[in-house]
Amino acid sequence: MSLRLAVIGAGAVGRSVVDLAPEYGHTVTALADSRSAAVDPDGLDAATVFDRKDAEGTVGAADPEDALAAEYDVLVEVTPTTLGDAEPGFSHVKAALERDRHAVLANKGPVAERYADLMALEAESAGTVQFEAAVGGAIPILSTIADFGPGQITAARGVLNGTANFVLSRMAAEGLGYEHVLAEAQDLGVAEADPAFDVEGTDAALKFVILANVLGDEDQIYSLADADVEGIRSIPASALDLAAEDGRTIRLIGEATADGVRVGPRLVPQHDALAVTGTRNIVQFETVNAGQLHLSGRGAGGPETATAILSDVGRLE
Ligand code: HSE
Repeated sequence: MSLRLAVIGAGAVGRSVVDLAPEYGHTVTALADSRSAAVDPDGLDAATVFDRKDAEGTVGAADPEDALAAEYDVLVEVTPTTLGDAEPGFSHVKAALERDRHAVLANKGPVAERYADLMALEAESAGTVQFEAAVGGAIPILSTIADFGPGQITAARGVLNGTANFVLSRMAAEGLGYEHVLAEAQDLGVAEADPAFDVEGTDAALKFVILANVLGDEDQIYSLADADVEGIRSIPASALDLAAEDGRTIRLIGEATADGVRVGPRLVPQHDALAVTGTRNIVQFETVNAGQLHLSGRGAGGPETATAILSDVGRLE
């Protein structure tokens, strides 16, 4: 079935959704970005995106409010992640659900910080909320949890921040300094708008908070404030050298278990499944009846994240 998508956020992910939606048989009927109120030198203006696509019947909207008022079946919320009240993303999703439309998010803020509010809104709406793209980009992490069935996956552990992983693996392999390597990661386009989110462990913690809420029961809802988080900023290259002498390395490892959410630098054997290199992500699930399960792939990037969004849209059909 062909669905009509309204996209809020015209960054790399939003533009990839616009590019890929026709491949999946869907139509983008609106695209908004708060930055497009002004003429944008990078072509982020919504009308510019649509001119390039030559998509008939689409609305290029400068203001998110215009996109929310447009005709659509699914709101795609891909504005940058914000913490605390998770605005303006949360209000965008709320407006869609109150119109009985579906909402698909890559924005981690509303899911990690306002999970209970989001679930309450969904319960009152004929629309649903999907957020596969918020956790591990193209890797089908949440759909695997759903496929296994309630209670069948008990814990998740692994690497869910490509920027931090790139920094640590480059520092270990090349002996390069932290600042130099972080600049390289930003050039690759996987870092958050504010890379402090990546290197301080916040981005990974948000993803493991989402996993803890999906894996756990409704009586225990987590937000970022409940997570025990340590980043990688203070790790010197000498620590990686020392680890290597012992056949180990350091990775930013997150955990969502019955005991809560933790993210921090951990020593792992160099040949461990979790010692992925570059921007690769990996998640290791503990299952009740099938031991450990590993899922690995690209956890960031425009087309990769858009793939997860369009998979969620496909599940609505
Ligand atoms: N900045 C994130 C990363 C991408 O480096 O993995 C999407 O969450």
